Amino acid sequence: MRAIVLNHVVDFGGWRTAARSAALDGVPPEETLWSVHETTDLFAEPPGAAPPSGAFSVSRALVELAATAIQASDPERFALLYALVWRAHRGEKHVLEDAADPLVQRVMRLAAAVRRDTHKMRAFVRFREVVADDTTRYVAWFEPDHYIVEANAPFFVRRFATMTWSILTPYRSAHWDGEALRLGEGAQRADVPDDDKLEAYWRAYFSSIFNPARLKVSAMTSEMPRKYWRNLPEAAAIPDLIRQSRERTATMVETPTVSPARAPRPAATLATLPQPGTQGALAAEAATCQLCGLYKHATQTVFGEGPADARLMLVGEQPGDQEDLAGRPFVGPAGQMLDRALAEAGIDRSTVYVTNAVKHFKFEPRGKRRIHATPDRAEIQVCRFWLDQERALVRPAVTILLGASAARAVLGRTVTISRERGRPIPLEGGQVMVTVHPSYLLRLPDQESQAREYAALVGDLRMAAGWV
Ligand code: URA
Repeated sequence: MRAIVLNHVVDFGGWRTAARSAALDGVPPEETLWSVHETTDLFAEPPGAAPPSGAFSVSRALVELAATAIQASDPERFALLYALVWRAHRGEKHVLEDAADPLVQRVMRLAAAVRRDTHKMRAFVRFREVVADDTTRYVAWFEPDHYIVEANAPFFVRRFATMTWSILTPYRSAHWDGEALRLGEGAQRADVPDDDKLEAYWRAYFSSIFNPARLKVSAMTSEMPRKYWRNLPEAAAIPDLIRQSRERTATMVETPTVSPARAPRPAATLATLPQPGTQGALAAEAATCQLCGLYKHATQTVFGEGPADARLMLVGEQPGDQEDLAGRPFVGPAGQMLDRALAEAGIDRSTVYVTNAVKHFKFEPRGKRRIHATPDRAEIQVCRFWLDQERALVRPAVTILLGASAARAVLGRTVTISRERGRPIPLEGGQVMVTVHPSYLLRLPDQESQAREYAALVGDLRMAAGWV
């Protein structure tokens, strides 16, 4: 019997080394005994864990599956994954392709559960503001079903890079001080302070997007399971909202709130209502967004469009005058410039998911004209609520960020386009490229520089398409 002790609950490095060594030594799965002994230094190499030598290779797909499934809380995960490795090593190179195989099915289920939990964590972590000794820190409590904090902490670092925060869970805590990420022991619910400004903010936000006509409690509980409700400030509003929903639906029917400038939409029927968790549902929810003040003057929310399984995503800054009226991204002058450049780069726009960092048109009225105004950091940050969900849904292989606002929205930091354009930036399992915004070309004073910059944009688009 080979007893293998791993360093922590998601010690992928340790598991990988041990699995490789056991397979090379011919130790069958039933003769391995896997356990975890957490050390204080969570990511220290286990003593004596020198990588074994010998011919050993398993498919990349299997390694990726293992890296996800190892986060499952099932105590048998290490052994199950080793059993897969063992079979692959013993000649079943395509073991994962047998979808009817009980072991493959079980491991796939583990990975799917981890992915679901990951989605919930990214959507439902809510920070509370804690001010102590003149410093502000944000603290969140979350109860994952699986061991997903380690793998997801970098996502929160990117998203809240400029904040100092901690995410506490029963088994692990993650702390970001603006420079370094530290992982520590688990915590208790009581470690997170109770009342704060953010709580009121989330509650008000949720009430504002809550559309009683679409109330489907079963769908709601599957997307936002009740177990998360007690940690979500906005969930405190749910019972009241449900109670009021009949009354509010009736009021909504009697007093349409759509401004005359908005295109009339056909009445929804059961068949036309978007399914929860889909692009349609997200767009419908965003249509009532009042997360920042921009909705007050814009005609409508301009949500992203394109196939939900697009491999390429384009992110612009915000809708312009024409997009605001049409309700579609990139249909005005910058859109036409973009369409030309896409076509020249050999990219069919209908295969691309096109969206913006900010979903409402920000402008300054000048006479009868509405002049574009750049969205500020807070507007970009708040609107990430939608962009992140679009990205999580589409999961593009490559994302092209058109201009500095898009770059800030996705990368969470200030980006100097001239310094970073055209090179691959790895993000969330895909690649990101920063390039100029097409309206930059429209502002160039002479034809020569316009032609040069246009060619450079086409070159960037072509290169990014090549990464797909
Ligand atoms: N500019 C953008 O960034 N997005 C649009 O949709 C249109 C113009």
